[in-house]
Amino acid sequence: MNYHFDEIIPRRNTNSYKWDSLTSDDILPMWVADMDFRTAPPVIEALTRRAKHGIFGYTQTPNTYFDAVTGWFERRHRFTFSRDQLLFTSGGVPALSAIILAMTEPGDQVIVQDPVYNCFFSSIRNNRCEIVSNDLIYAGGTYTMDYADLEKKVADPRAKLLLLCSPHNPAGRVWTRDELLRLGEGSR
Ligand SMILES: Cc1ncc(COP(=O)(O)O)c(C=O)c1O
Repeated sequence: MNYHFDEIIPRRNTNSYKWDSLTSDDILPMWVADMDFRTAPPVIEALTRRAKHGIFGYTQTPNTYFDAVTGWFERRHRFTFSRDQLLFTSGGVPALSAIILAMTEPGDQVIVQDPVYNCFFSSIRNNRCEIVSNDLIYAGGTYTMDYADLEKKVADPRAKLLLLCSPHNPAGRVWTRDELLRLGEGSR
């Protein structure tokens, strides 16, 4: 299947938050993880098939959805788990919020690694928890984790959760196996 990653598809006047919020035509909006590539044809075909049915009532989450997710993790990462370990959410941000709600009490601390995607902060605040940042270190043109600082921050008994962002937005890092193992050790 061919994908055209260099095709420029105009998005102005499509109610695009990214393109239609601009106050001037000479601004290039690069502030949000909103792709300008056309969605893969099989996805468009599946959505078109569904739309042609013409009735949009309340839906179930079918077994095929869970099979697609568990199958992808198994094929790509050799990571197996069962469908009852999965919950459907409508996006990454609602998932963050549900996790914070399930694992903390109001007033608990939640650790983030700043600079990080803004909704990490609002999800913590909206669940009435305290934001604690284990700031990333920027040196030599890249970001790394500050393990010494993390050790101090997780020592506080009010620190209940760390929101790991991987790949990290905006640091652009895919954490290595060693970095993640060290993080796991340091945050025990
Ligand atoms: C790290 C990170 N998580 C979550 C999201 C948003 O996820 P969703 O649109 O699925 O809520 C973004 C969007 O930029 C992001 O950068």
